[in-house]
Amino acid sequence: MTQLELIALAKKAAQAAYVPYSHFKVGAALLTKGGKVYLGCNIENASYPATNCAERTAFFKAVSEGERDFEAIAIVGGIEGNFTGYASPCGVCRQVMREFCDDGFRIILGKNDDEFIEDTLSGFLPYGFTNENLI
Ligand code: THU
Repeated sequence: MTQLELIALAKKAAQAAYVPYSHFKVGAALLTKGGKVYLGCNIENASYPATNCAERTAFFKAVSEGERDFEAIAIVGGIEGNFTGYASPCGVCRQVMREFCDDGFRIILGKNDDEFIEDTLSGFLPYGFTNENLI
């Protein structure tokens, strides 16, 4: 699967975003090493901290169905689904990625104009806290 194909799926996922407060729609498409894709959108709540980000929606859907091996995630975000800029994953989502992914996990940020940037999880979250710190 190409980066642009995964980004197209993230844009589709963003259509389901529940964003009555921010109007900022986020979509994520999470690719497993086996080639399956799990979609996620952000789901807001009147009690704002109860909001779930798109990336975590995708991860929790996948993990809850037994997936543990992940290759890449594409993310788009913008007001009313207008993806003019890059939406970078928040710190909590990076930490959730850290739990299930190795350093080389690919994070792809997409935009409307078919431009994208890609880096690894270790680029997005250097010196991350992992289960190895608990030993
Ligand atoms: N949001 C995400 O879905 N993912 C991120 O990594 C950053 C923020 C959502 C949460 C909220 O619904 C909206 O974007 C504005 O913060």
